[in-house]
Amino acid sequence: MATVDAILADQYPAKSHARRVAALLQAHHGDSAPGVIYLEAQKTRLIEDNDEAMPFRQRRFFYYLSGCSLPDSSLIYDINADKLTLFIPPTDPEDVIWSGLPLSADEALKLYDVDSVLATTEVNATLQSIGSRYGGSAVAFMIAGQVSIETKFQGFMDTNLSALKGVIEKTRVVKDAYEIALLKTANDISAKAHIAAIKASKTATNEREIEGAFIATCIAYGAREQSYHPIVACGANGATLHYGKNNSDLIDPVTKERKTNVLIDAGAEYRAYCSDITRVFPLGGKFTTETRQIYEIVLQMQMECITMLKGGIQWENVHAHAHRVAIKGLLALGILLGSENELFEKRISVAFFPHGLGHYLGMDTHDTGGDPNYGDKDSMFKYLRVRGRLPAGSVVTVEPGIYFCRFIIDPYTQSPDLGKHIDTNVLERYWSVGGVRIEDNIHITRDGYENLTTAPKTIEEVESLAL
Ligand code: GLY
Ligand code: MN
Ligand code: MN
Repeated sequence: MATVDAILADQYPAKSHARRVAALLQAHHGDSAPGVIYLEAQKTRLIEDNDEAMPFRQRRFFYYLSGCSLPDSSLIYDINADKLTLFIPPTDPEDVIWSGLPLSADEALKLYDVDSVLATTEVNATLQSIGSRYGGSAVAFMIAGQVSIETKFQGFMDTNLSALKGVIEKTRVVKDAYEIALLKTANDISAKAHIAAIKASKTATNEREIEGAFIATCIAYGAREQSYHPIVACGANGATLHYGKNNSDLIDPVTKERKTNVLIDAGAEYRAYCSDITRVFPLGGKFTTETRQIYEIVLQMQMECITMLKGGIQWENVHAHAHRVAIKGLLALGILLGSENELFEKRISVAFFPHGLGHYLGMDTHDTGGDPNYGDKDSMFKYLRVRGRLPAGSVVTVEPGIYFCRFIIDPYTQSPDLGKHIDTNVLERYWSVGGVRIEDNIHITRDGYENLTTAPKTIEEVESLAL
C-alpha cells in the first residue's frame, strides 16, 4: 500500500471529484442535456471599516473540484468534454509591491489536477464559447448565492441553482485514498499537539496556556489552521459541550487546589481537511477515583462502538449501544437505579450523554451528507448528526461522553417518574468530574474500520504524560 507521503506527493484528485459529481448530477437530472458545473472560490473580504483582509477560508465546494486554495478564483467543468478549467486572478501590478507575485497560470497548471488554467477575466468568454459549441442546449449547474453578478451564461439553455450543492454534499461522504491521507496527516499533527498540550498542563496555571501549546504545535508541524476553535475545559467547565472561553485558572479559587482534570477537544486542519479529537487528562498526573471511573465507562463505550463499525452499519444502532454501555456503567457505580431495559426505554442516560455519538468528518468538521433529523421527538436520537447506514469510505467521529451538567440533569432528578432512577447522594460526588468525552476519527471500510487517530488515550498513557 502506498505511504501517505507518496500519495500526497501527487496532485489533489480534483478531476476525479468533478467526474464523480457530474455522474451523480446527471443520474439525478437525467443525462440528456450537455452541462457545465460552474463554481466560485471564496472572495477576499475586508474587515468592516478597515483595509485588512478577513481570515480566509476556502469554499469547500470549490476546493473539492479544484484543490485550489486561492481566493477570487473560479472553475468550469464541461461535463461532456470532460474538461476542467481553473480561472485564477490575473496579476494586479498595484498589489505586487504588497503581496509579491501571484501564482502564474503555468505554475497553477503544474500544481492542480486541471486541464487548463486561465485568468478570471476569461470566464465569460469561455462560458459563451461553450454555450455556442452546444448550440444553446447546455445547462449550467451552480450553487445559489455563490455566483457573482458579473458572471454571464450567454448561449445556455438553462441555469440550475438547486441540484449541484446537494450532489456535492453527497459525493463528499465517500473519501478517496488522497483524502484519507490528508485526514491521517491532520490526525498525526493533532496527536503531537495533544501530547504537547498534556505536557504543558504540568506548569500551566490557566486553560489558555494549554490551548497555546496545542496551536503552537500544529503550526510548527505545518497545520496553520484549526478545524474549529479548540475547547480547553478544566473541572466543571468540561460539562459544557462546546465550552470555548478557555480562560479559567487551573487552581480552584476556594480550595486553592488544582482542579481534577482537563477536557481538550481540538484538531488541526491540514490542506482543508479536518481532524476532530477529544482527550481528557488529569491535572497532576493521577485521575481522581470518580474521574477514573467515568473515564473507564466512556472508553468502554467508545471501544465497543468502534468495534461494531463496517460498511453498511446502521449508525443509530451504534449510538444506542453506547447508551447501553453507559447505563450499565452508571448502574454499577450506583448513580442510576433500576433495570437496564427500563432505564434505556425511559431515555435516562440522555441526561448524562445528551449529544450524538459522532458525525461525518472531512473538509468540514461536521461534514456534509449526514441527513440529521433534529425534529426527531426521541431525545436519544434527536441530536444525531448522521442518520442511516455508513457507506464504506466514509469517515466518522466516535465521541461518546458522560457529563455532569446541573442544567441538564436537574430536570431529571426533579421529575417524579425519572428522579427515582438517579441516586442524588451518589451523584453528589461526581459534579467535580465535569465531563469526559473521548473522540477518535474512524475510516469505515467494507469489512471493518481504520482508526485514523493516534493520540494517546489509555488511562496509563495520559496519566504518564500528565505526571
Ligand atoms: N469539536 C466539535 C465536535 O466534536 O463535534
Ligand atoms: Mn466531533
Ligand atoms: Mn470534537
